[in-house]
Amino acid sequence: MLPLALLLATLSSAWAAPTMCGLVPPSVAAASPSPTAAGGSSVPPSTGSGSGKSTDDIVATAWYTGWNAAQLPVDQVSWDKYTSMTYAFALPQADGTILLQDSDVALLPQFVQAAHSSNTRAMLTIGGWTGSKYFSSLVATSDNRTSFVNAAMQLVSQYDLDGLDFDWEYPGAPGDCNVNTPDDTQNFLLFLQQLRGQAPNITLSAAVSLTPFVDDSGSPSTDVSGFAKVLDYIAIMDYDVFGPGWSTSVGPNAPLNDTCAPAGMQQGSAVSAVKAWTSAGFPANQLVLALAAYGHGFVVNTTSAYDQANITATASFASTEMPAGTMPIAGYPPIGNSSVPEGDSTDAWGVGGTLDECGRMTQPGWGGVWNFAGLVTGGFLDQNGTAVSGLGYRFDTCSQTPYVYIEDRQTMVAYDDPTSFAAKGQFIAEQGLRGFAIWEAAGDYQDLLLDAVSSAIGIEEHQ
Ligand SMILES: *[C@@H]1O[C@H](CO)[C@@H](O)[C@H](O)[C@H]1NC(C)=O
Ligand SMILES: *[C@@H]1O[C@H](CO)[C@@H](O)[C@H](O)[C@H]1NC(C)=O
Ligand SMILES: *[C@@H]1O[C@H](CO)[C@@H](O)[C@H](O)[C@H]1NC(C)=O
Ligand SMILES: *[C@@H]1O[C@H](CO)[C@@H](O)[C@H](O)[C@H]1NC(C)=O
Ligand SMILES: *[C@@H]1O[C@H](CO)[C@@H](O)[C@H](O)[C@H]1NC(C)=O
Ligand SMILES: *[C@@H]1O[C@H](CO)[C@@H](O)[C@H](O)[C@H]1NC(C)=O
Ligand SMILES: *[C@@H]1O[C@H](CO)[C@@H](O)[C@H](O)[C@H]1NC(C)=O
Repeated sequence: MLPLALLLATLSSAWAAPTMCGLVPPSVAAASPSPTAAGGSSVPPSTGSGSGKSTDDIVATAWYTGWNAAQLPVDQVSWDKYTSMTYAFALPQADGTILLQDSDVALLPQFVQAAHSSNTRAMLTIGGWTGSKYFSSLVATSDNRTSFVNAAMQLVSQYDLDGLDFDWEYPGAPGDCNVNTPDDTQNFLLFLQQLRGQAPNITLSAAVSLTPFVDDSGSPSTDVSGFAKVLDYIAIMDYDVFGPGWSTSVGPNAPLNDTCAPAGMQQGSAVSAVKAWTSAGFPANQLVLALAAYGHGFVVNTTSAYDQANITATASFASTEMPAGTMPIAGYPPIGNSSVPEGDSTDAWGVGGTLDECGRMTQPGWGGVWNFAGLVTGGFLDQNGTAVSGLGYRFDTCSQTPYVYIEDRQTMVAYDDPTSFAAKGQFIAEQGLRGFAIWEAAGDYQDLLLDAVSSAIGIEEHQ
């Protein structure tokens, strides 16, 4: 069996019919080649090819978190199913250095070696929610940009990386008590241009929100085409749209669509994000959809969960899809209290009482995250990812995501299953997007999610 990457290299960027057996063509593409390349330019990505893969190749990637290596050891990754994998996180420091101290720095070389032995690109992501504090100052001046470029290039050569991913959450915004200025987006572009100038061969990507980087007025930029000239792609983080700490009702973590959601619940989706980024001049074929292999749990009492009026009024689910023995639950029930409920078996109770990176006193509590794998190993989903008998269940056909209600925990979990990933894969193919990025590799269970999105796009390994 040839590695997936080699098979993919035989595909043209316009999703032409495969020239080798073993690859299933995308169902839609043959009929309508590159449907939304309209917003796009004819300018190809500026990069060359670092390891024999054309940059027009599909991106089938995931983030690999150094701190969850016990759940998914490097030698158990399905490398052949990925075109690249991105190690998380390297953290930029106030002094301009970039450190891996919060991830397993000793593991990174093993990660790179394992990737390369499968002809998979090894990337490193810089930043993250708590790691974006100093981006703004590190790109603020010409001197600082030069230092930061040099620090980034040092990592590339030290670890033999094929690319860098920038996860600045977010330029021009405080995020997690980040330094920020109205010039962040423009400075970020200047930085990326300089980096690209010095590194024409490596893959450069950025993880981004559902709306384009803000301009100096704080509104989404109307023209981000400059970023498309220096980045190979951006990964749109279509998750955490609803969550227990920031929403007043339960809602989808990772909605495919939201224009079909009830008024007031339209809070962004893959559909809205692709529209927003392409309208601002980012070509569809440089957009990668970032997918969630996890869900969020919310405290919901039994009355709200099974509220017949809410079930009826928000009945965007098909009763034929109800798994055996499950009971219908409300669409957007109110959250019972402000507590974050316990998540899956990997969730840990934070004791609180320490100062966080913003200098705030932390409170005791759960993280409330349910990996897809945790739902299976916890016995809430079966080996195929189907909700088990006795749970409350709903599949929301607008967001294309399911919810389960675990009554004895008073917890509703909004998550993604293989059906959700397949729907997103179909959307990726229909829209002519570059591919997918999964947060995070360890969240999947026996590749159920990965295989679902891959086969929906038309990537299938020859057996
Ligand atoms: C430039 O970077 C240094 C640290 O390397 C930092 O102290 C300084 O504030 C930065 N300059 C600006 C304008 O942010
Ligand atoms: C880019 O790749 C080519 C071919 O592998 C190599 O010869 C060249 O030195 C690389 N350029 C840079 C700037 O790394
Ligand atoms: C999103 O929902 C709208 C209806 O509001 C529908 O027309 C459109 O086809 C949906 N798109 C996807 C990708 O589901
Ligand atoms: C369902 O509950 C949510 C949260 O309270 C509420 O916003 C929404 O209006 C309810 N929907 C219906 C149709 O009752
Ligand atoms: C259930 O939760 C809702 C919303 O928080 C609240 O209005 C209601 O009183 C609760 N019902 C019970 C029985 O606790
Ligand atoms: C919120 O509800 C959960 C489930 O009933 C309960 O365990 C928890 O103690 C409640 N938290 C607060 C702050 O009331
Ligand atoms: C999973 O799916 C396979 C194939 O459809 C089926 O044979 C098997 O019984 C299913 N397993 C469970 C636990 O439902």
